[in-house]
Amino acid sequence: MGSVMSTVLFSRRHQSSTKGVPEIFSEKELKYPPSFQSRVICCASKEVLQTYLAWRQNDCHVNNLHDTCLWMLVKEGETERDAQEFLKGTQKQQKNELLFQKFRINYKNLPAMYRQGSCIFKAEVEENVKYNENGTPVKRLRRKARIVQSENIAGRSFWNELPSLLKEVGGFTEDVDKVNPEYVRFFQFEKKLMPSTWIVVRIDGCHFHRFSEVHEFEKPNDKQALNLMNSCAVAVLEEIQDIIFAYGVSDEYSFVLKKDSQFYQRQASEIVSVIVSFFSSMYVMKWKEFFPRKELKYPPSFDGRAVCYPSSKILQDYLAWRQVDCHINNQYNTCFWMLVIKKGKSKREAQNCLKGTQAQEKNELLIKEFNIDYNELETMFRQGSLAFWEKEDITMTHENTASVETSHRKVIVEHCDIIKPEFWEAHPSILDENHLLFEALINNFSYQHESLGKVPLP
Ligand code: GTP
Ligand code: MG
Repeated sequence: MGSVMSTVLFSRRHQSSTKGVPEIFSEKELKYPPSFQSRVICCASKEVLQTYLAWRQNDCHVNNLHDTCLWMLVKEGETERDAQEFLKGTQKQQKNELLFQKFRINYKNLPAMYRQGSCIFKAEVEENVKYNENGTPVKRLRRKARIVQSENIAGRSFWNELPSLLKEVGGFTEDVDKVNPEYVRFFQFEKKLMPSTWIVVRIDGCHFHRFSEVHEFEKPNDKQALNLMNSCAVAVLEEIQDIIFAYGVSDEYSFVLKKDSQFYQRQASEIVSVIVSFFSSMYVMKWKEFFPRKELKYPPSFDGRAVCYPSSKILQDYLAWRQVDCHINNQYNTCFWMLVIKKGKSKREAQNCLKGTQAQEKNELLIKEFNIDYNELETMFRQGSLAFWEKEDITMTHENTASVETSHRKVIVEHCDIIKPEFWEAHPSILDENHLLFEALINNFSYQHESLGKVPLP
């Protein structure tokens, strides 16, 4: 038996607030961007993959049978809690009988997609690509994604009859008798991030070179595209309270989670996937707001990684590195596109012109050839963008009453130097561990007071 290494990306919806996608729910507005959490499971053999599939399909069946009963009971007038209570401990057979006797539903007749889930695989299909002069079609084999439902996706009869799966993975020699989820969970790869360290999740647009070409972004910097990135980053900070700071440039954003964060029990794949998927959904949702006259031609995607930094000093060094990178790239790109657009040079000629030039020489080139003072260019282009929480004092004035001073926290976006210490000195609360700890204690304490009906702390 040949050995197979397959990677299964297990994904589950993170929040139930998905209202739909425009093509499918044409009458419904997408109210909130969905996000997904994911987990990597390495299947070291075909048998593990087979057991994994059997487990997931069994879960689909068990959950769907339960949910069908639950919502039928609720439709009948039961409260959700009573219906849950009623179904507790019931076996499959009893649920089938309940559906049949009380609601005249034969569970087996419900749509296969609900009971069995869906499989997508690539299959070779013959397609007419063109016609000869004499009118006969020229056919080619193309790989196309197919969606199918099947009673037993881990069974030999399903798997071994699909040529593409047989070719990629090989056949299953036996059927799975009993699903043993513990066996599959054993292969689950859990990467818990080191405790008490700053977690940085850096996301980066996939193939944004192409994405920016297709969407005709201004070169080298498209202000609206960067504003869109910033707006999505603000939404991420608002959504995930443990993120205390973010720095973005071009198609990337670094999100910093507080040192003692317990978000997803510090599991890297969950944290990264939730941030990446929420950001990507938000990007699509907000597109029209920033590009009202441009059609989004295809959905963008972002990759992500998590890195731990043990001290605020090293974290600041990391952020400084990203800002230095922003500066170097922006200065190069400004010169490059000026040479191409304004001087009519080819991309290769522009590259050769800039080869080996230092920062000072590039600044001189911009001044001499194009009358551009690099330091006068937009700060957002030169220094990137920071997003962080800040207290805002507001005075509320009501008619006939004295004005009241209140303060609330708000995510703001700024463009400034984070390499020098001044920014961090002016905003000590961002990385102040004692302050954060103190705040957490206060919040917790005042919450307990409120829940006990006592006066909350000021
Ligand atoms: P991968 O990240 O490896 O998938 O490649 P990538 O094509 O996304 O390139 P990379 O992340 O290294 O760099 C980002 C790319 O996005 C830049 O090279 C530009 O081509 C493009 N880009 C980002 N921001 C802008 C912008 O404001 N205007 C334009 N015109 N292009 C941009
Ligand atoms: Mg990229």
